Amino acid sequence: MEKKKFMITTPIYYASGSLHIGHCYTTVAADAIARYKRASGYDVYFMTGSDEHGQKVERKAKEAGVTPKQYVDDVVGAFLNVWKHLNISYDGFVRTTDEYHKLTAQRIFKKLYDQGDIYKSEYEGLYCTPCEAFWLERQLKDGCCPDCGRPVEKVKEESYFFRLSKYADRLIQHIRDNPDFIQPTSRTNEMLNNFLLPGLEDLCVSRTTFKWGIPVDFDERHVIYVWVDALTNYISKLGYLNDNADSKLMEKYWPCDVHLVGKEIVRFHTIIWPIMLMALGLPLPSKVFGHGWLVLEGGKMSKSKGNVVDPLVLMERYGTDAIRYFLLREVPFGSDGIFSNEALINRINTDLANDLGNMLSRTVAMIEKYFDGTVPEAQTDGETGRSLRSICETLPHDVEKHMENLRIPEALQSIWSLIDNCNKFIDDTCPWILAKGENEGDREKLASVLYHLAECMRYTAVLIAPFLPETAPRMFAQLGIEDESLMSFESLDKFGGIKVGTHVVKGEALFPRIDAKKEIAELEALFPTKEDNKAENGVEEKKKEKAEKKAEKPKESNDGMIEFSDFEKVHFRTAKVLECVPLEGSEKLLKFTLRVGDETRTILSGIRKFYNPDDLVGKTVVIVANLKPRKMCGVMSEGMILCAANDEASALSLITTLDEMQDGLTVR
Ligand code: ME8
Repeated sequence: MEKKKFMITTPIYYASGSLHIGHCYTTVAADAIARYKRASGYDVYFMTGSDEHGQKVERKAKEAGVTPKQYVDDVVGAFLNVWKHLNISYDGFVRTTDEYHKLTAQRIFKKLYDQGDIYKSEYEGLYCTPCEAFWLERQLKDGCCPDCGRPVEKVKEESYFFRLSKYADRLIQHIRDNPDFIQPTSRTNEMLNNFLLPGLEDLCVSRTTFKWGIPVDFDERHVIYVWVDALTNYISKLGYLNDNADSKLMEKYWPCDVHLVGKEIVRFHTIIWPIMLMALGLPLPSKVFGHGWLVLEGGKMSKSKGNVVDPLVLMERYGTDAIRYFLLREVPFGSDGIFSNEALINRINTDLANDLGNMLSRTVAMIEKYFDGTVPEAQTDGETGRSLRSICETLPHDVEKHMENLRIPEALQSIWSLIDNCNKFIDDTCPWILAKGENEGDREKLASVLYHLAECMRYTAVLIAPFLPETAPRMFAQLGIEDESLMSFESLDKFGGIKVGTHVVKGEALFPRIDAKKEIAELEALFPTKEDNKAENGVEEKKKEKAEKKAEKPKESNDGMIEFSDFEKVHFRTAKVLECVPLEGSEKLLKFTLRVGDETRTILSGIRKFYNPDDLVGKTVVIVANLKPRKMCGVMSEGMILCAANDEASALSLITTLDEMQDGLTVR
């Protein structure tokens, strides 16, 4: 049977400077979707590329003393290097300086001119050079570019225009008839209310003031204005109106299933692009998804503001999959998300080192210890492991549902819930007690526990492969799985794929724990993510985000219940008391020195009257690890130690763990 096709694209990035973590966000998301679709049996075409023309490149090349082509060749070389390191599995990379692309852009321009949709006139308007965008007076924000907040210039020149207005009604109808066309839905309303319904102006589609562009072949004084040049990339690479060897691709893959873009270019992709396609008589893409921005605390990062985080440095320090995971998990898809060094390290230590890495190493270590490294024969239809089996039964469908709606963080969350449940399963079944064999049937139960854990780790490895393509094979290797059919989505149809007798192989930790304090300090020196970026746009963005957060707040319902996601925001951890002394100058406070995994923290706690400090040394307590540090009596307290206390605080007891537990563990 012929496979169903799926086409996904990223924007083609401006070759005016290097890529930053924001560009990686879009590309990694598109890559995860493409890989997921391939693993689900689709014939996928995943495209990305570079947008190489325009005044800005021309100017930068001049500053660098090279030709524009030499300049973009260098920049694009660097793009390809980043994508290689990030394991981006694109099928097509389009450069707007490629010959086939030039041909397509010129032929489309000519076709639209011949049919009267493009005409020559005079343009008088306001131009933002950094954004390469024209604006109308009424669209400006405080007299400046509504996208980047910088001043615009008045320009007047002879230009060609595209009759957008002619197609506006058809487009409005299309958007109304296809509620999934623009996603998330809030952006549909924005496009309709802010741009389409007030009436479209015809679009200026050529320039005469710079040369670095694709010439209009029947009027060489003009170059094709950047958006017509850029947008046509999506079909030039497929061979539309050119003799590119790939020309069969158009027939096979068009219309595109998802154009994934940042929210600032949704307008171009949902108004100009569909109208061009309508004018060419081509079908429209099924969906344009406008995701939010990755912002620093001080606002949006961008090449032109110079406040960018370099992905290569991060990958070198923490590995590709750690960065991919952070990007895919941290930002609610569709909304803005804050990039901070702290959040990055936290994700790596918590989700990857503690949860995923630990679970695999515990599973492998127990199989080695109790069954000489061989997956034991076990019962998989009894009471033991029933809960895990039922999670595994629905998990692939849950992940699929999320991915169909491009809800990547939710898909990962579902996979992580299996890992959480494995942890719970270990706590409930206590394999180390079963190993003592004190009761009849303990050995069989132990075998069943470990078989279930090994199979759940296989499920995890198969499902995370599209997101963490380097980690999945490392997991299979440790689980001793070599048979490729056990690495496929189809193999998740039925619990029990991992073969009895498989030899597990202990390997290196998937994600070594990071010394958070040291690492964050080093990263802040490299990329100050907390720096207050005073740019107008950033401040506004932050304000908006705060307002959005506030609006989201009333999640707390009348009965005081909170969502699981609210609970998840608080990081409870076990901590070992290394030292405890009364704080000088305070009658109430004790000063604790605590070990929390790889880090050492100081926490002050007002419990002096309840305890003799010496009695607390060596105890394992529970702390809130992500509470903002606070200075008390001149000492910085980095978290909070949990206690049970009555209302009058006359009785109080520290919270500890029932059994001796390691420090740095998640408490949930
Ligand atoms: O706009 N957060 O190219 P560009 C998230 N050439 N995504 C970000 C981001 C951030 N902070 N910064 C950039 C162009 N992006 C045109 C596109 S398409 C026919 C032409 C991502 O280099 C996001 O996808 O400015 C955004 O839309 C894109 O990079 C802009 O890249």
